[in-house]
Amino acid sequence: MNTAIYPGSFDPITYGHLDVIDRATTIFDKVIVAITQNITKNPLFTVEERLHHIKEMTKDYDKVEVDEFSGLLVDYAIRKNARAIIRGLRAVSDFEYEFQMALMNRRLREEIVTVFLMPNEKYTYLNSSIVQEIAQLGGDVSNFVSPLVAEQLRLKLGKLTAETQKKNNA
Ligand code: PNS
Repeated sequence: MNTAIYPGSFDPITYGHLDVIDRATTIFDKVIVAITQNITKNPLFTVEERLHHIKEMTKDYDKVEVDEFSGLLVDYAIRKNARAIIRGLRAVSDFEYEFQMALMNRRLREEIVTVFLMPNEKYTYLNSSIVQEIAQLGGDVSNFVSPLVAEQLRLKLGKLTAETQKKNNA
């Protein structure tokens, strides 16, 4: 079985991620969407919440599994018998970071291949952080994330705002 890992923070998963997942399922027998901690980011959603978002969004894809891992991505890929890592490449601005990660992963495990997929160009500008920011400022994110994620963003960010206000008033 030809298995690929699609790793990321998915905080939250967007329609841009779903586009990459969809394309990956046309090439691989199994695609494991795997959440892990990016040590440079402070997550908004818990791993359990993100697992739930991704499972809900990919429920119609038989070839997709959703998982979480800690430790090195290449070691996880080996444990899962995967030979490929999928990453989405939206624009030149992604390239340097992705290039460094792909080459480092290859240095760590020569047998694991990174495959870059370009999402539909209508998602070029889309990423999870910008979705968080739009939601935080009361903007409409319904074109970028599923109704479940949009609702959870509203609840989570509303709760965070209330907590900040309480702290400021204390
Ligand atoms: O969605 P992101 O935050 O751009 O994904 C980055 C991610 C999670 C794929 C990267 O941080 C990662 O692979 N983390 C696992 C730990 C690891 O293997 N680090 C070395 C990468 S060269």
